[in-house]
Amino acid sequence: MIIAANWKMNLSREQALHHLTRSSQLDIHHAPGHQSVFFVPACYFGMAEEILSSAGAIGWGGQDCHQDEAGAFTGDISADMLLGFGCGWALIGHSERRQYHFETDRQIAHKTAHALKKGLRVVLCVGESLADRQAGNNDAVISGQLDTVLVYLAEQSVSTANLVIAYEPVWAIGTGNVASLAQIDDMHGHIRDVLDSAAQAGTDNPILYGGSVNETNGAEIFSLGSVGGALVGGASLDAEKFASLCTISQQK
Ligand code: PGA
Repeated sequence: MIIAANWKMNLSREQALHHLTRSSQLDIHHAPGHQSVFFVPACYFGMAEEILSSAGAIGWGGQDCHQDEAGAFTGDISADMLLGFGCGWALIGHSERRQYHFETDRQIAHKTAHALKKGLRVVLCVGESLADRQAGNNDAVISGQLDTVLVYLAEQSVSTANLVIAYEPVWAIGTGNVASLAQIDDMHGHIRDVLDSAAQAGTDNPILYGGSVNETNGAEIFSLGSVGGALVGGASLDAEKFASLCTISQQK
């Protein structure tokens, strides 16, 4: 299973140092078959590289990655910059990027293609709003978000081998309103169908669930065969809590 921590814009330098140091010491992050990933703010890439590279097996990455090589894009960060700090991963299309930075499906497709071409593993986030869910449009919204990326990757002949999908219903993020097991299982099944009917069928891309995952609800979510891990926000900010969630994921 892949258990990914999305710190968002949280933790001071001291807190980040403590978290990464403690996490590097916890056995669970090195367990066979388990992959922990830390999506840290860009200013902590150097710290993550220094602490985690000697710890082995633990991944780290950026919470975004621009679609261009370099240039006049104030505030943005490139794939080469991520790679320069040992990042193996990029989180792309998070709903907060879609909402607050107005990222479109097309832009997210370009970012995903560029990051994959550069050799990064991409966690591509998809998710419907509460209004979409209430209107019964959830499957169509997710297909639309996913298809735009998959079609573009096929057009660009970019392999999907390093693509991971995170299903994150917007209404479940940071709200404590975790999706029901049936909602998760149904949507993961739908995403699997979309992936299987895409041009590059056959790759067994993991599908993570994200949205208010914590130590209390983790076990039942991880018991679903369709769940390949989790993208965790709030519950990832404490090293011990995050590690215990990783331990729970291994007990399925
Ligand atoms: P949450 O965030 O666990 O705090 O709901 C998840 C995410 O946004 O990735």
